[in-house]
Amino acid sequence: MKLGVLTGGGDCPGLNPAIRAVVQRANQLGDEVIGILDGWKGLMEINSRPLGLEDVADILNVGGTLLGTSRTNPAKSPDGLERVKKNIEQLGLDALVAIGGDDTLGVANKLYQLGVKTVGVPKTMDNDINGADYCIGYETAVEIATEAIDRLQTTARSHHRVIVCEVMGREAGWVAATAGLAGGADYIIIPEVSTSMDKITEHLRKRRESGRTHSIIVVGEAAEVEGLGQLGVKTIDAFGHEILKERGLGEALASKIEEMTGMETRATVLGHIQRGGPPSAFDRVLGTRLGVAAIDLVHKGEFGKLPILHNGHIVTMNLAEAVGVNQKVDMDLYRVAEVFFT
Ligand code: F6P
Repeated sequence: MKLGVLTGGGDCPGLNPAIRAVVQRANQLGDEVIGILDGWKGLMEINSRPLGLEDVADILNVGGTLLGTSRTNPAKSPDGLERVKKNIEQLGLDALVAIGGDDTLGVANKLYQLGVKTVGVPKTMDNDINGADYCIGYETAVEIATEAIDRLQTTARSHHRVIVCEVMGREAGWVAATAGLAGGADYIIIPEVSTSMDKITEHLRKRRESGRTHSIIVVGEAAEVEGLGQLGVKTIDAFGHEILKERGLGEALASKIEEMTGMETRATVLGHIQRGGPPSAFDRVLGTRLGVAAIDLVHKGEFGKLPILHNGHIVTMNLAEAVGVNQKVDMDLYRVAEVFFT
């Protein structure tokens, strides 16, 4: 078979191990692999390159994606999906492996409904794909954010300050909840749990009264905080999502805390650092397992599906079930974190 592989949406550590596994497993089964460059953009315009074993030989521990990525949404232009379908035919692809998050997998599902043989692989540091214990990139992001919080703890302690650490997470607060818990945050704010400035500042005052002169607040970029007031301008991307960095949540929160409590407060926005650099051992293994499983699905003729880590095992799920519903933070996890700040 001649198989295409692409990576779409935001990059993250663990994509290269998945690409490597796709190529290795396909090669073992006698298939040829074509790498599509820059996600769906590479199929809107036909931008591709053959991918052999030598191309993926040294990428297991390398961050980002060898294939490049984009947030191009073919479904946005009236003939976009048909054009992608035609280009897949022109390339002579028997099947396509799409590695991505909700948006990329959503397009893969739409193409499947149009008769294209697609298989997905779930990646997103947001960890919000329905049914996934872990998506590629999330575990590394948690490690990076935890290390950052450890560092913020020591500087906050030295200066007797409050430090707000803003982390990514478009629809769900997985990185905030998990890294906040691991880093010993004194308050964790996530989109799933409503909170208010009064609640946050009361907690900070109590800490100060009990002799704790510094505090770390971890906030997921999509969270809402009652009483915070107007945030930055709303800008929308190709998939209709708000570009959350424009909200300036971490900075706004820090200013408001300082205004309400008089405590010196700083903000750190971790941003794309969470998505850069080498994948953790966990993400290397997860990317590899999912990449191999994707090719196995192709060989079983199971299209419109994706392999997913669920209850500790790689299982198969329909793309239609995985997309469109964002998996929210497990409230058991958040309740454990809350023990330390309520
Ligand atoms: O979806 C992954 C994600 O990292 C979100 O957490 C974040 O809001 C967004 O991508 C940032 O996108 P970009 O790389 O386009 O700035």
